[in-house]
Amino acid sequence: MCGIVAYVGNRAVTPLLIEGLKRLEYRGYDSAGIAVRGNSGELSVTRAVGRVSNLELLVEEDAQYDEGFIGIAHTRWATHGEPSVDNAHPHVGLTKDGHTVAVVHNGIIENYSSLRTYLEGKGHTFYSQTDTEVLAKLIAELYVDDLETAVQKALQEVSGAYAIAVMIDGWPHTLVCARKGSPLIVGVADHAYVVASDASAIVSHTTQVFALEDYQVVKLSAGPVDEKNGTGEPWSSELRTTTIDNVVVDPEITELEMDLEQIELGGYSHYMLKEIMEQPEAVRDCLRGRVDLRDSKIILGGIQDFKRQMVRAKRFILTGQGTAYHAGLIGEYLFEDLARVPARCEYASEFRYRNPIIEDDTIVVAVSQSGETADTLAALAEAKDRGALSIGVVNAVGSTISRETDAGVYLRVGPEIGVASTKAFVGQVMVLTLLSLYLGKRKHMSNERVDHYLKQLSQIPDQIEKVLKQTDHIKNCVKQVADRDNWLFLGRGYNYPVAIEGALKLKEISYIHAEGMPAAEMKHGPIALIDEGMPVVFVATQGTQYEKVISNIEEVRARGGKIIAVATEGDTHIHKYASEDCIFYVPDVMEALQPLLTSVPLQLLAYHAAVERGHDVDKPRNLAKSVTVE
Ligand code: F6R
Repeated sequence: MCGIVAYVGNRAVTPLLIEGLKRLEYRGYDSAGIAVRGNSGELSVTRAVGRVSNLELLVEEDAQYDEGFIGIAHTRWATHGEPSVDNAHPHVGLTKDGHTVAVVHNGIIENYSSLRTYLEGKGHTFYSQTDTEVLAKLIAELYVDDLETAVQKALQEVSGAYAIAVMIDGWPHTLVCARKGSPLIVGVADHAYVVASDASAIVSHTTQVFALEDYQVVKLSAGPVDEKNGTGEPWSSELRTTTIDNVVVDPEITELEMDLEQIELGGYSHYMLKEIMEQPEAVRDCLRGRVDLRDSKIILGGIQDFKRQMVRAKRFILTGQGTAYHAGLIGEYLFEDLARVPARCEYASEFRYRNPIIEDDTIVVAVSQSGETADTLAALAEAKDRGALSIGVVNAVGSTISRETDAGVYLRVGPEIGVASTKAFVGQVMVLTLLSLYLGKRKHMSNERVDHYLKQLSQIPDQIEKVLKQTDHIKNCVKQVADRDNWLFLGRGYNYPVAIEGALKLKEISYIHAEGMPAAEMKHGPIALIDEGMPVVFVATQGTQYEKVISNIEEVRARGGKIIAVATEGDTHIHKYASEDCIFYVPDVMEALQPLLTSVPLQLLAYHAAVERGHDVDKPRNLAKSVTVE
């Protein structure tokens, strides 16, 4: 979704905002904009279509942007209105006494149409098709001397989701920000505040942060007490948090656990590749302290207080969207197979609206990298309303899902910047594996069996390392097929969700049309698609369904399809069906653990296909890292 960054303090604001936007660009990048208050007290507002670098060029050429210590900025992913300069943020409104109010916004104002009619009746003229311009004009309309009050009043009239940062021309060195449904983090530095949609734009300024809660408004003031008359001293700063009804609240400021190095490229050409390559370390971090091999113990502190309810649970409902949903599907297999408890995984967006039945002792597991996905949050709220206990399997610490769930297990795989999720997926599968073993051990599994799983589990980081060594081999295979526009991904059992995740990865960054499905399903229709040279990727590892997968491979070969196979190390039989240059090997592990390995070559396959086709891997068209609208 969109990214917001705002600053008030003692540093030159423009470079700081541009740097923040670059860090947030992965959230949306069809246009960007900035508003800064210069020495004259007037606001300079500039907007540009395309990447943040386009905006940067414009502000570099404009001397107005050499001044100023307060400003707001935005990178957009269109919801209302096409990507255009007019639709880019910040949006402005004019108050009755001639002040300019500027607003950046992430989210959707649902009642924007009726508000627009009301504001047109009051004499406001609109230049864009956005819901945000309505909000800017509503705040301007309600402004009488005090920006905080105007924002509070405006938000009382609004339905929908928002994270906003608002400023006004003249001399209040004050930003007003608010949130409902879309994330907003406030960083508290020395005599300065920086606000952003996520911590990556804050961490280089301060590690003291708090997350705004729904319906909260924060007023941030920092500047020379007598700035207008140029004395510059003494410096004052003030933070005030209220609800939109002006009830004062006391935010809890915490230390941000994020390291700037972690979020930089570190020599890789793309974040996606970096994140694929750092999976061994990410999975080690995910496992650290959670598996005790001496006692066959699984230690999950975040669910400690709920272990009885979890063991007693009659059903688990896993939910998420996209890649997180695919991880949840693997979770469904794991919970039933290892914990022997009924489980199903559902798209959060469908679950929410189909009047679901939640029986007693049901636990909902919300799976999410960002912890901010609107559909997942809505499904979680629905399940909680209907009496389910909730558990989060989330990466972003302190995110909304992590706060809204009763208990949870963090992925601990570090920040994921690449839009296409890779290490978070493997982290999600790892946490779901730990959860199902945790339950299995308490319900029915022998110590020996748990022991066996845990020993194999602790080998996974080294084994991923081994799989990653095939990156050049995978690249060479991809070169043969990257020009093909239709692919199939097939697998059975635990590797069926891996196949659909492989197809999603390919689609989202290489724009190749790909479908993933259970291998057996192919015969029921999709086999009609297969023609000479069509790439068909099989996850064909050793296991209970190996022979069946081989039969499916035969069916594809007979129709001229090009077989690409993920196979178990030492499988020589597979050579009969695929050429060596398109076989990718994974170490032999128990079936339930295979997705942790088999998903990795498919990530590399998608990555190299996108590079081969010349696409911007980290910023695929039309996509945003975190989808905070339903
Ligand atoms: C695909 C991808 C998306 C996300 C989905 C849910 O690579 O990243 O499909 O998995 O938008 O996002 P989170 O996990 O943040 O809830």
